[in-house]
Amino acid sequence: MNLLKVRAVTKFKLFKGDICGLRVDAIANAAKNSLLGGGGVDGAIHAAAGPELLIYCRGLGGCDTGDAKFSPGFLLPAKFVIHTVGPIWRGGLRNEPALLASCYQRCLDIANELGVKSLAFPAISCGVYGYPHEAATHVAVAAINGSVMGCGDNATVNEIILVAYSEQMMAHWQSALTASALTWSEY
Ligand code: APR
Repeated sequence: MNLLKVRAVTKFKLFKGDICGLRVDAIANAAKNSLLGGGGVDGAIHAAAGPELLIYCRGLGGCDTGDAKFSPGFLLPAKFVIHTVGPIWRGGLRNEPALLASCYQRCLDIANELGVKSLAFPAISCGVYGYPHEAATHVAVAAINGSVMGCGDNATVNEIILVAYSEQMMAHWQSALTASALTWSEY
C-alpha cells in the first residue's frame, strides 16, 4: 500500500521577549563574522549559554555574511544555537536583501540537517546592523516561506518562532506574515 507521505504544515508563531529562554530545539543568533560574541542578541545568547559557547565558537573559524554555523546550546534551554551573520545595511544596493535572505535559508538548511523541529529567529540585522525593520521582516518571511515550501520530504522543521524584542517589531513580523498570506499563533 503506497501511503502518501504528507509533510506536516509548518506552523508560524510569534513571541515577544528574550529569545534565550525559549524551550525550542534551536535558536538562531545574529552574530558577527568572527562568531566571538558581541552585544544585542549575540551578547544575550553568549551570556545565557555560558562560557563554553565562546570556547566552542573559537573552533568554528568564523562565518561569512549570509552563511550560518551551529553550536550546542550549552546552558540554554535550546539544544542548538545556529549562528548566522546578517548584512550591515548600507542603503540596499550592496546585495543586502539577498544576503539577509541567505541567513534564514542557511539556518533552515542546518536546522533540517540537525533534525530540528522547532526553530526560533530573532530579527537578524535589525539592531546594530541597521537594516530597516519592515524591509528586513518581509525579506525574512519570504525567504523562510520559500525554503519551507521548497525543502524535501525529509525536512524536519515544522515550527518557526519569529521573535520580536519590541511591540513595533511584533507589528512588522505580523505585517510580513500577512503579506505572504501566512497565518500565525502566539508562542
Ligand atoms: N532576544 C530577542 N531579540 C533580541 C534580543 C534578545 N535577547 N536582544 C536584542 N534583540 C533584537 C534586537 O532588538 C533586534 O531587533 O534582535 C534584533 C537583532 O539586533 P542585534 O542583536 O543588534 O543584531 P544585528 O543587528 O544583526 O547586529 C549584529 O551586533 O551584537 C552585535 O555581535 C553582534 O556584531 C554583531 C551585530
